[in-house]
Amino acid sequence: MQELKNRVAIITGAGSGLGRELAKQCAAEGMKLVLADVDEKGLAETRAMLPDTESVSRKVDVSKRSELDALADLAYDTFGKAHLLFNNAGVAASGPVWSSTADEWEWVMGVNVMGVVHGIQAFVPRMLEQGEPAHVVSTASLAGLTSVPGSGVYCVSKHSVVTLSECLYHDLQIAKADIGVSVLCPAFFKTGIADSERNRPQELSASNPEGKQFAEFVRAAIEAGKLSAEDIARVTLEGVKANRFYILPHKGARKSVELRMTDILEGRNPTSPLG
Ligand SMILES: NC(=O)c1ccc[n+]([C@@H]2O[C@H](COP(=O)([O-])OP(=O)(O)OC[C@H]3O[C@@H](n4cnc5c(N)ncnc54)[C@H](O)[C@@H]3O)[C@@H](O)[C@H]2O)c1
Repeated sequence: MQELKNRVAIITGAGSGLGRELAKQCAAEGMKLVLADVDEKGLAETRAMLPDTESVSRKVDVSKRSELDALADLAYDTFGKAHLLFNNAGVAASGPVWSSTADEWEWVMGVNVMGVVHGIQAFVPRMLEQGEPAHVVSTASLAGLTSVPGSGVYCVSKHSVVTLSECLYHDLQIAKADIGVSVLCPAFFKTGIADSERNRPQELSASNPEGKQFAEFVRAAIEAGKLSAEDIARVTLEGVKANRFYILPHKGARKSVELRMTDILEGRNPTSPLG
């Protein structure tokens, strides 16, 4: 979708990090915005940064289908169209697979996987009906293309987002729909993701008892990230305009994808992407 001006973007996780940067850059392109997040304060801060942009926002827990349906109603009632959907909200959890908790699986899969499913199901049928170009971008991760020690729950969720996006792409091709699809797979960059616990529901609070050391590694890697959220948002919008499916902003990280694929094709045991 090359022309973004006056079109309508929907962004989940817009109250912080990458979602906020996407909102700022979509606004700079002259888009109208529908912003969603479970964090109302963060959402209000994002909107306050964009005083000259037509926007609406809503508190949404993406793990709940009814809340995405309500977001789609808000988008269509306000602007009559939806062109660019960012399924971006996400959370992270750390620790070895054997000590991960049922709460962690439910929380991370609910937000990172079902959140994307709900976004697709709430918006794509209406995008198909509206008969104008549209595009769906889902934020996976390099952890969706590699297998990172101490990140089993997160990696399973992000691999799911990659294959879900690939299947969506194929389904839309068969339907001959003018709807592009991209899956965004960044490596570490500085945002609030290391503090995902701030949004964790009380009823799903049981953490991996062996997660601390891995969580500290992730926090340090995020702090050391070479690209900023602004850089990732810019590369993402370039990808949308070019109708690029795989968006991998960290060029150096491609090596770890190649290594995993070579392990598979040559029948080797898995090499750690952390070296
Ligand atoms: N930062 C990184 O290093 C990195 C790397 C690869 C992928 N990602 C992905 O980027 C995306 C954006 O994360 P970020 O890095 O900007 O982190 P962030 O924590 O700054 O932003 C995530 C946003 O999602 C929101 N959110 C959490 N649970 C939600 C829910 N149930 N419903 C609605 N909103 C919810 C949070 O309130 C927050 O505003 C995520 O999908 C994350 O997995 C991040």
